Amino acid sequence: MALHEAKSEPEGDLDVNPLYVRLEEVPVPRHSMPRLGMLPDTALQVVRDELILDGNARLNLATFVTTWMEPQAKQLMAECLDKNMIDKDEYPQTAELERRCVNILANLWHAPGTTSAMPAATGCSTTGSSEACMLGGMALLWRWRARRRAAGASAAAPNLVMGANVQVCWEKFCRYWQVEPRLVPMAEGRLHLTGPGAAARCDENTIGVVAVMGSTMDGSYEPVRLISEELDRLQKSRGHDVPIHVDGASGGFVAPFLQPSLEWDFRVPRVASINASGHKYGLVYPGVGWVVWRDASALPDDLVFRVNYLGGDMPTFALNFSRPGSQVAAQYYNFLRLGFEGYSRVQQASQDVAMHLSSKIAAMGPFELLTDGSDLPVFAFRLRDPAGTYTVFDLSERLRERGWLVPAYTFPADLQDMAVIRIVVRNGFSMDLAEAFLDDLRTQTEVLAAHPGPPVPLLPEGSQRGGFAH
Ligand SMILES: Cc1ncc(COP(=O)(O)O)c(C=O)c1O
Repeated sequence: MALHEAKSEPEGDLDVNPLYVRLEEVPVPRHSMPRLGMLPDTALQVVRDELILDGNARLNLATFVTTWMEPQAKQLMAECLDKNMIDKDEYPQTAELERRCVNILANLWHAPGTTSAMPAATGCSTTGSSEACMLGGMALLWRWRARRRAAGASAAAPNLVMGANVQVCWEKFCRYWQVEPRLVPMAEGRLHLTGPGAAARCDENTIGVVAVMGSTMDGSYEPVRLISEELDRLQKSRGHDVPIHVDGASGGFVAPFLQPSLEWDFRVPRVASINASGHKYGLVYPGVGWVVWRDASALPDDLVFRVNYLGGDMPTFALNFSRPGSQVAAQYYNFLRLGFEGYSRVQQASQDVAMHLSSKIAAMGPFELLTDGSDLPVFAFRLRDPAGTYTVFDLSERLRERGWLVPAYTFPADLQDMAVIRIVVRNGFSMDLAEAFLDDLRTQTEVLAAHPGPPVPLLPEGSQRGGFAH
């Protein structure tokens, strides 16, 4: 019997095993604190019992977030759990590791003036990309306000230009900071932001353009260089100097290794800041993110709080205060452990699996690829016949019965009628697992084609099903 259903908390024989056959009179309450405590093993068992109802993280093809790390990394994280990142005086070495990680990323993303010999990067760690995007957006907003005030112009109506495919954190940013979101709609064959689409929506009130590397919807990279060139033309013709923030939540840790000659980072002069999730393709367990600015001038001084430690000057810029040091230590561990070569091999292995899967799925017949995993190791596909006897939502549910978590969802404006399945391939999703997934996909597709279940209606605009995470 599970302890939540048990009747009593036994007195004196709490260490009797097996736990499930004890006579009990008091239930373990779910929503209030129990009057008496229990032995650690009992508490462990109760909580574990609850958690076995969760999905299996390794079969989760929905999330971008790391689901496997080496035992040594886990050990390091456990050792650092009690260190508070914000106590930079007490844990100066953890703060130093954060600084080194920022320098490594600035270097990787070609920030000017950052060489491995002379680190001078401006950036910080965060809880994830959402917070990092918030900080990047705030820097754009503060800088725009300063420019407007210096010009004696109104700073009352800021706007931010981005594709309708941006992750929800950008809509949050706009709502929290009262910035008008200017979302460039998608169209058949145009699944992310383009240069002309962005430039057409910019004006003197545009604080910046967000370019995503790569899109949460389908894993495709937005063309940062082309967007920048279009903004150069805009500046020439209409005088608006619009900076770019690159949301590299996933791509920031993929493009440098898999597409090193693609210019999407600080090599593009208009790029003011970049964020990435350490806990996605940075290969660290959640939650850690990073944001790096081109140089100190891209981050307004009045957003930065300075903390003195070890005679140095540690600028801090964050929305929260306390946070464990484990993830930062684990990020640094990964940088040392894998090096450039190691990261390249890990990301290449994920991409090989993604492209293998996408080519097999394309050849099955009922599916059409929207992307193939050649940007991020992520791809999306849809049914060739969306009016057929089953939907991608049916398929997602059938696959869930076998333990696979694959999200089905509709695209944003103007493609709300397009329903797709997305697959995120991460470190730990082997070719063997991919083959097992393909077998199940084939079987479930055949079953659905032969015995279509009751039709599942498309959900209202903006809603998602099938565990669409992030
Ligand atoms: C492009 C993009 N930006 C931001 C985020 C938010 O990232 P995080 O979960 O690290 O807060 C995501 C998450 O998937 C994303 O894909």
